[in-house]
Amino acid sequence: MNRMRILAVSGSLRAGSSNLALLRAAAAVAPEGMELVFYEGVGALPHFNPDLDGEGAIPPPAVKHLRRVFGEADAVVISSPEYAHGLPGSLKNALDWIVSSGELTDKHVVLLNASAAGGQRAQASLAQTLRVMGARVLENASLIEPFVRKKLSPGDIVEAEVAQKLRASLDALAHAVGLVRGGLPAGGDGT
Ligand SMILES: Cc1cc2nc3c(=O)[nH]c(=O)nc-3n(C[C@H](O)[C@H](O)[C@H](O)COP(=O)(O)O)c2cc1C
Repeated sequence: MNRMRILAVSGSLRAGSSNLALLRAAAAVAPEGMELVFYEGVGALPHFNPDLDGEGAIPPPAVKHLRRVFGEADAVVISSPEYAHGLPGSLKNALDWIVSSGELTDKHVVLLNASAAGGQRAQASLAQTLRVMGARVLENASLIEPFVRKKLSPGDIVEAEVAQKLRASLDALAHAVGLVRGGLPAGGDGT
């Protein structure tokens, strides 16, 4: 089987982001045959404007790139903090650009969340947005890991327990993507 290309997206623009660190830790424990490719363009996207999104409109270059990398991915892992009980605006903005172009349709998505303490509200809201976009959110494989900073050593080495949970999430994702590649009917992978 070809390598599985998983797009990793952090919902935080912070250089020292815990969510980015969690994604790097996930990349380090990815199963054989799975590659995590990091999308780092969230902060460079223009504000979503339907006038630039309609039929015949030429999308800005950053949006073209966003659509290409999402389109090429076999699946997506998003790790996002919670801001004021919701999604970071920049992440929602990125998703708004691919509502009508459809790169997430039928694509499997695992959600991670490294917030200060909570994170459930942002994760639920993100899952709802993704589902309405046609994505297959793997709820059972999604994780909320509060206080990630305390569980990280230099080099983004996470505690063994977190590493195991990340590996289990990626295994579930690999399984789901593999089943679809194998030609099961929609929904036959348990999403
Ligand atoms: C503007 C703002 C709002 C926040 N709101 C919440 C919140 O509602 N719930 C929560 O658990 N943490 C909240 N936090 C804390 C973040 O989840 C925490 O700082 C997290 O580590 C940020 O992720 P990052 O390290 O990837 O940047 C908030 C942080 C900021 C800056």
